This record gives sequence, C-alpha cells and structure tokens, in this order.
Amino acid sequence: MRKPFVAGNWKMHGSKASILTLVTGLNAKSSEISGVDIAICPPTIYIDYTSHCLSADNIFIGGQNIAEEPDQGAFTGESSVEMLKDLGCQYVVLGHSERRTIYGESDSQIAQKVKVAMKAGVTPILCIGETLEERQSGVMESVIAAQLKAVLDVVGIAAFESVVIAYEPIWAIGTGVTASPAQAQEVHAFIRSELAVLDSTVAEKVIIQYGGSVKPNNAVELFSQPDIDGGLIGGASLDANDFMAICKAAGV
Ligand code: 13P
Repeated sequence: MRKPFVAGNWKMHGSKASILTLVTGLNAKSSEISGVDIAICPPTIYIDYTSHCLSADNIFIGGQNIAEEPDQGAFTGESSVEMLKDLGCQYVVLGHSERRTIYGESDSQIAQKVKVAMKAGVTPILCIGETLEERQSGVMESVIAAQLKAVLDVVGIAAFESVVIAYEPIWAIGTGVTASPAQAQEVHAFIRSELAVLDSTVAEKVIIQYGGSVKPNNAVELFSQPDIDGGLIGGASLDANDFMAICKAAGV
C-alpha cells in the first residue's frame, strides 16, 4: 500500500505576513489529518522563516529548486541541496515545467539535480508532463517516457524507490482546467508501466502525484484513482483551508 503524499508548491508567492497567516492556519488544522504525508515548499528565502512558524509535526518542508553543484562554491544566486538540508528540507521539487520552460532547464540538468538531491538524502519530487500540443499531436507518451528516461539513465531504477514523481500536464497548471480523473489515471498508469518494465517492485512502490488545478472540489475524485497517490498543489496550497481540505481528501 502506498501512503499518499500531498505537497504544496508555493512558487514565488508570499511575504512574512502572509506566511505567518498561512502556516498558523495549517498548524491549527493539522491534527485533523491522518494517513497522508504532507509537505510545503516555500520560496528558498522563506524556508527558514516558514519552519519557525510551523509547529505541526506532520507537515514537512521542501525546496523548489537546487543548484547542480551539491555543496558550495562560486555560483552567484544559487542555493545548494546541502543548504536546503541545513534548513530542514526533506524534499525538493525538481524539473517543474516552469523551470524547464522559463529557465531552460534541460533533462540532463534535471537528472543531475535529482542525483545531487538523492546523494544528500533529500527526496526529489520529479515533475514531468506534456504540453497541450504534445497531447493533441499524439506524442504525449513519448515525451513523458523521454523525461523519465533522462533521469533513469543517470540514477537508475533502484533509486526511484526514493523519488516522488509528479505528473503535471502543463495545460492544467494554473489554468483552472484540471485533467479529468480518467485522463490523469491513464498517464499515471503509463508512468508506472514504464518503470515496471525495469523493475516491477519499484514501480509498485513509487509515489506518483498529480498536479494541475487540484482544488478541494476535485481532489477526492482525482485521488480515488488507483495510480494517483496524492498531489502537487500550486494555487490552492496558498490557502490553509483549501490545502488542508485537499490533504484530507488524500488521507483516511
Ligand atoms: P496549480 O495547482 O496552481 O495549477 O499549480 C500546479 C503546480 O504547478 C504545482 O507544482
């Protein structure tokens, strides 16, 4: 049995005042939630502040990006996995489509970051997903397979026991258009089958989150799909009531 996992990707949102309000709300509601792992991923600069605000012992902290270099060095503007770990991060979102498209991160850079995170003992949340054009032109599966393969080639299938995958169809991110539960399930099953070709035990264990306009009103149906093991939540993770309702939908 896979334990569902819900993570909030705050993206570049928040201030000390708004984070205090949000995390106070999460703290207050956290005891109502069980049977689900939960993480929140603030902007790097607010990780430390967020963890000071956080008192709920069932909510963990993650980052949204790391440098390819593991430790430290002359890399102006970057933050290393060791620095995130030092601040208490257990997870890091890697390969988000916003980083792939806006910042030009390549499959090989993402694979390197996954490797560096794993070596540090920080669990990568590896984001993969297709554009609307790729879906409509019938290349969705090959795009997703290639995104997976780039990482598998570098870290190997055994490492996927400790990688979380987030399937995020780009056309559903921040648009209010959610993949239907059946559409999402189809891709999740495909991802699991791709991994099963290499190792069926690992494939059965790997957590595959769905991300893209998950809201309290669609979470239950999405999370009831057999291969959807929770979600990576953007906009709705900025509201304590909405995020906790989504976590509850994934839990027991
Ligand atoms: P939304 O939930 O705002 O669509 O964002 C999804 C996402 O990109 C999470 O990483």
